Amino acid sequence: MSIYQRAGQIPHKRHIVFRNPNGNLYHEELFGTEGFSSTSSLLYHLYPPTVVKELGEPINHRPEIAFEDNLKCLSFLGFDVPPTADYLESRKVFFVNEDMQIGIACPSASMTYYFFKNADADEMLFVHRGSGRLKTMYGTVAFEYGDYVIIPRGTVYQLEFDGTDNKLLFIESHSPIRSPKRYRNELGQYLEHSPFCERDFKLPTEFETHDEQGDFKIMIKKRGLVYPYIYGNHPFDLVGWDGYNYPYAFSIFNFEPITGRIHMPPPIHQQFEGHNFVVCSFVPRLYDYHPEAIPAPYHHSNIDADEILYYVDGDFMSRNNIQHGQFTLHPAGVPHGPHPGAIERSIGKKETGELAVMIDPFNPIKITKEALKYEVADYHKSWILK
Ligand SMILES: [Fe+2]
Repeated sequence: MSIYQRAGQIPHKRHIVFRNPNGNLYHEELFGTEGFSSTSSLLYHLYPPTVVKELGEPINHRPEIAFEDNLKCLSFLGFDVPPTADYLESRKVFFVNEDMQIGIACPSASMTYYFFKNADADEMLFVHRGSGRLKTMYGTVAFEYGDYVIIPRGTVYQLEFDGTDNKLLFIESHSPIRSPKRYRNELGQYLEHSPFCERDFKLPTEFETHDEQGDFKIMIKKRGLVYPYIYGNHPFDLVGWDGYNYPYAFSIFNFEPITGRIHMPPPIHQQFEGHNFVVCSFVPRLYDYHPEAIPAPYHHSNIDADEILYYVDGDFMSRNNIQHGQFTLHPAGVPHGPHPGAIERSIGKKETGELAVMIDPFNPIKITKEALKYEVADYHKSWILK
């Protein structure tokens, strides 16, 4: 994140003596996700963050791959995934490549008896249904329908939900998830042509210090295995922190769409990027206003990226019979385009209420066995005129 934040107490310079009222030193920790060369935060703990009491046996969370090679358009019904009380169990990975995992989670209960830390990946949780709070050592990020919640690798967190009907589209990225560079100047400030700016981000609030000792279970994910760690101190024991590395949220409804007289290409919808992938937000907007404009997208040959669309709300104008929570995967190598009738149907239309998230992985996607449970039969034949 390109916005400097601070909370609680911090010393007037970094890396100097900083004591509590009893004269004991606080414990400084540098937290960055790319060595010492990118954004980081300095954290001041009451206790050392190293006090491990017990280690449990790792639990396998590696997704099972059904097939590695694919040149077929596929579709899957994300909302058919049943709710699961446990958060980690609820995360169902559908798509995998060397850069990322993509899936859907339908957790029906808050995390109460453990914390989670993903040492493998930055996480993006898109909140399709439900609301609640992401609790971290940096403070709390409240979330609701339409929010992207971004959690840097290594952040210890708990999710607290307001209800039981929660549906989260998620990405695990092995590289930082950031807004596109072209939206920011060399100092990180959002430029005038960006579809969002600093005011649109939901930053951590309600900073609290938890001075608690006992047994605190942190489930740590590393290379697909989840290791139960028992620590002797509450993980949210900071008296203060500052820096640029922390979780935050962004509402898709704050994405200001860029429109034109004739069809604008997908990059104008870009929301985030990571190494070898982009995320785009398709939001309600006015259609192209040239008198002869065709608002539906042209057929196109995505030869260098797989395209995954996740349908959130509204009627998606280029597709027939699409449900909320449905994924489509259009693999690199074969052209795709609007369904029969969609182009003609779009002419003369003034606006769309469609809401969708598109994820374009540049390396080919492998399909998991979990995804196949929810496959839409013969989606690849859905362009045949009936
Ligand atoms: Fe496309």
